[in-house]
Amino acid sequence: MKQNTAIFLLITLIKLTITSAIKDDILVFTVATNETDGFERYIDSAKKFSITPIVLGKGEKWKGGDMRRLGGGWKINLLKAALEQYHDNENEKIVLFTDAYDVIFLGQLGEIVQRFKNTGAQVLFGAEPFCWPNVELAPQYPEVSKGQRFLNSGMYIGYFPQIKNILNKKPIEDTEDDQLYFTQLYLDKDFRESQGIKLDHLNEIFQNMNGVSDTLEIKSVESKESGPETYFLKNIETSTEPLIVHGNGPSKLNLNYLSNYLPNGVWNSLDGCVQCKTNEIRLDKFKQKQWPLVYLALFIEMNTPFLEGFFKKINQLEYPKDKIHLFIHNAMKFHSDDVSSFIDVHGHQYLSVKQIRPQDGTTEWAARDLSLDQCSLKNCDVYFAVDSIAHIDNPFTLKLLIEQNRSVVAPMLVRPGKAWSNFWGSLTKDGFYARSNDYMDIVFSQKKGLWNVPFINSAYLINATLLKRYDRLKLTYNAPNVDADMAFCRNLRDLDVFMYVSNRVEFGHLINADTYDITRAEPDMYQIFENEQDWEEAFIHPEYSEHLNPEMKERQPCPDVYWSPVVTRKFCNALINMMESYGKWSSGKNEDERLEGGYEAVPTRDIHMNQVGWESHWLHFLQKYVRPLQEKIFLGYYNDPPKSLMNFVVRYKPDEQPSLRPHHDSSTYTINIALNQVGVDYEGGGCHFLRYNCSVTDTQLGWMLMHPGRLTHYHEGLIVTKGIRYIMVSFVDP
Ligand SMILES: *[C@@H]1O[C@H](CO)[C@@H](O)[C@H](O)[C@H]1NC(C)=O
Ligand SMILES: *[C@@H]1O[C@H](CO)[C@@H](O)[C@H](O)[C@H]1NC(C)=O
Ligand SMILES: *[C@@H]1O[C@H](CO)[C@@H](O)[C@H](O)[C@H]1NC(C)=O
Ligand SMILES: *[C@@H]1O[C@H](CO)[C@@H](O)[C@H](O)[C@H]1NC(C)=O
Repeated sequence: MKQNTAIFLLITLIKLTITSAIKDDILVFTVATNETDGFERYIDSAKKFSITPIVLGKGEKWKGGDMRRLGGGWKINLLKAALEQYHDNENEKIVLFTDAYDVIFLGQLGEIVQRFKNTGAQVLFGAEPFCWPNVELAPQYPEVSKGQRFLNSGMYIGYFPQIKNILNKKPIEDTEDDQLYFTQLYLDKDFRESQGIKLDHLNEIFQNMNGVSDTLEIKSVESKESGPETYFLKNIETSTEPLIVHGNGPSKLNLNYLSNYLPNGVWNSLDGCVQCKTNEIRLDKFKQKQWPLVYLALFIEMNTPFLEGFFKKINQLEYPKDKIHLFIHNAMKFHSDDVSSFIDVHGHQYLSVKQIRPQDGTTEWAARDLSLDQCSLKNCDVYFAVDSIAHIDNPFTLKLLIEQNRSVVAPMLVRPGKAWSNFWGSLTKDGFYARSNDYMDIVFSQKKGLWNVPFINSAYLINATLLKRYDRLKLTYNAPNVDADMAFCRNLRDLDVFMYVSNRVEFGHLINADTYDITRAEPDMYQIFENEQDWEEAFIHPEYSEHLNPEMKERQPCPDVYWSPVVTRKFCNALINMMESYGKWSSGKNEDERLEGGYEAVPTRDIHMNQVGWESHWLHFLQKYVRPLQEKIFLGYYNDPPKSLMNFVVRYKPDEQPSLRPHHDSSTYTINIALNQVGVDYEGGGCHFLRYNCSVTDTQLGWMLMHPGRLTHYHEGLIVTKGIRYIMVSFVDP
């Protein structure tokens, strides 16, 4: 019986809730002149709860003054006019007003109304911790023991008659301040009490964020079944779960952060971002001819390692080049040849090419602004900026970013293995870098999605309708004493344009140009520590890793002499160039001041790695790439890291030193990499192992010979009869 009663009560309760929701005649109003990103987010959040706001002022010119100072009276006048059409006797009608650009709904209208009724107020305004715009009015406010004391006019709810009374109490100019208007009425005790005006001190419904962002937490509860978790906002100071949140004033960025998770349903750990799948454009539904016209702007603002790889990836973007206008600003003389050779080979494939060279003396600011102008001039649909440090490894990047259909969206790029990326999760008060709570999770792709962030750079796509919509004087990279990208992002924030960074898939990575020293010959070779991944891509033989496989038998041209591919032609050419640029080849005499004892028994014409500042790099190469091969070939011998005091490039030349007499190496094992090609660069040469009467003469460029040093492998360098032979030698573990 008890159970039946409980069920009966429950059903009645549900019925009551439903009927009261229907009976309550609720009008939701907002004011928005422009369909900004913030406005769309507001509407999207409303839709989630089947709320249909009436938008006042749409398409009109804003008349409410500068909202960052005083203003907003126009909002009152618009609402006043809008309420004219309703009858005065509609006492049960409820009016809910919220701002739009910086507001999101987090709950059902029925719940909002229920909580409003529970307060017993006739009209309820949101509250905040600041008395604004007139701080001198603060003492007139009633004290509160808990929560926020002062009125905020960005969100309020009330019965129609009382709302009307308040709006019609006295006239207000469009440019006067709406918050001041409501404040003055609220502070009039008689009027306040007669109209039943209260403030939502404890944030039961309304959460104004300014000044209290720290008390807000995004909470989640696990789903009971296997579904995704549920997210909600919790005010940990008042222990409430507000239903509408307002990122007023400087807290706008905190709201952007919240809106990556709220309202519930935009993101969860199971599905990643759900919201980012709405409004996607499917390019494959269209013929390529109809695809958006792209303005691709490349910027070389600093000397950058691995620029060849950068251009290679630009060239490999899966997008018809005859839909792309190409713009290149190169500020670096050092890279002039790289740019020219890219344009010579691929330039003609693009719709057009515009080049700004170092000698033109154009600043980064001017060049970036110019590229936006050019994009407009060419009637582009999207603008894609890529800086030289941004390696777009995923060839579908451009296409995916277009399909994402956002005003501004960056592919997340990270220095491999580091927390250094092309976006900031948060900002300090003065607009510099700050870390958000979820920054590490995003950077390391523990969380995947499309994230609204306050700063992006290095590579991003802009929907070119922005260039039409906003004054180009406002949408500029140019600001005094500020980096171009910081100025630009600040302008986007001021215009309420959202910047997203996507890590839904892997797009690429960032180059670290911090230590790049172009005074060296072959500066890329020195980047083995800072840009390991790119170094490997450029310099390690493409078949190297297959040879680590224990199943793969190494070639053995002579007993216990093993042969494996390790480095690329680019490596070999670079190493030769490093040595020849340095040029101080040893004399080939026994006296050698570079050695500790000052004496070399079997001298060659050579240059040591430390003479060109490349010793630590070479030792790292030995440790990372040679050692694993050694462990596979000479089973059971381990020494990590390998030691080597003698690391050098030898030059064999008929009129200098064409050969080397038989000798033992003072090493546990020796490696010998052929840096150039027999039959092409030189004739003769090779290595002869006397004990086995066996020679290796058909050495292959980039391949390494590895053999034991002492006792068994007595060997000699065979005569080079023509040209020059270069080899790279190390005596490992002497
Ligand atoms: C709205 O758009 C107009 C141009 O249509 C612009 O002048 C104004 O600054 C914009 N206002 C906001 C709040 O973005
Ligand atoms: C792209 O986004 C806009 C809103 O920003 C929307 O109006 C449009 O329908 C979207 N395009 C597609 C194909 O969904
Ligand atoms: C650019 O934005 C406009 C307006 O939201 C949208 O209609 C259009 O589809 C977008 N274009 C591209 C290429 O994303
Ligand atoms: C060494 O090998 C060559 C052929 O490769 C052969 O002509 C010669 O007789 C061999 N010498 C000895 C000492 O076995």
